[in-house]
Amino acid sequence: MPEAPRDWNDRYATGHTPWDSGLPSIEMQRVVREHAITPRRMLEIGCGTGTNAVWFAQQGFEVTAVDLVPLAIEKAVARAKDAGVRVQFQAANLLEAAEVGKLAAGGPYAFIFDRGVYHCLREENQPAILSTIKQLTGRGSLYLQLAGNTNDPSPPGQGPPRVKAEALLAELGPLFELVQMREFNFDGVTVDGVTISPLAWSALWRRK
Ligand SMILES: C[S@@+](CC[C@H](N)C(=O)[O-])C[C@H]1O[C@@H](n2cnc3c(N)ncnc32)[C@H](O)[C@@H]1O
Repeated sequence: MPEAPRDWNDRYATGHTPWDSGLPSIEMQRVVREHAITPRRMLEIGCGTGTNAVWFAQQGFEVTAVDLVPLAIEKAVARAKDAGVRVQFQAANLLEAAEVGKLAAGGPYAFIFDRGVYHCLREENQPAILSTIKQLTGRGSLYLQLAGNTNDPSPPGQGPPRVKAEALLAELGPLFELVQMREFNFDGVTVDGVTISPLAWSALWRRK
C-alpha cells in the first residue's frame, strides 16, 4: 500500500534527514566513471542539501538542481558557495505541471541524476513524476536513478521506499532503454542511533 506523502519541509526543519550523508554518493561516482559520463548540462531532481550537485559542478558539469524544500535549497546554495562552484539551485515541485513547465523550458537536459527521489514520488503520483522526467529529457539523455530495493532483507519500514526491478522496468521501459541495472548499498545512514546501508538499485537509462 502506498505510504502517506512525507512532510519534506518538516523533515528538513527537524533535521530528520538520514539520507543526507554530506558525502557524494560512491555509487554515483562509480557509474559516472565506468560509463564515461563526461561534463554536460544536467539536472539533479530532489537534490536535498546539494552534496551531489556540488560534486558534479566540481567535475565541470553545468548543473541545475531542484528540490521541493526551500530550507534544503538554502543549505545547498551555502554549500556551493563554500565549495566555490556555480550551481543553479531552485525550489520547485516536480509534481506541479506549471513548475515543471518552467524547468522544461531550460531543457532538455543531457543527464538527470536522482538519488532517492523517484522511489518516493512514484508512491505519490507515478504518472506525474514519469511525465516530469519525460518533459525534462530528450532523445539520448541519460538518467541515473538510485532507488530502494525490495530484495533488502531488513524489516519493512526501515530505510527508504523499496521497489521491484520489474516495476522500474515496466514504468520506465516505454520511455527509456536500460543501459545497466545493478544492486548496491546506499552509503551508510544513521537512523535512531543505528547505522544502516539499505540495499538499492542503481539504474542507468538512456532516453529512446
Ligand atoms: C530521500 S530525499 C533525497 C535527497 C537527495 N537526493 C540526497 O540524496 O540527499 C528525497 C528528496 O526529494 C525531495 N522531494 C520530495 N518531493 C518532491 C517534489 N514533489 N518535488 C521536488 N523535490 C521533492 C525532498 O525534499 C528530498 O530532499
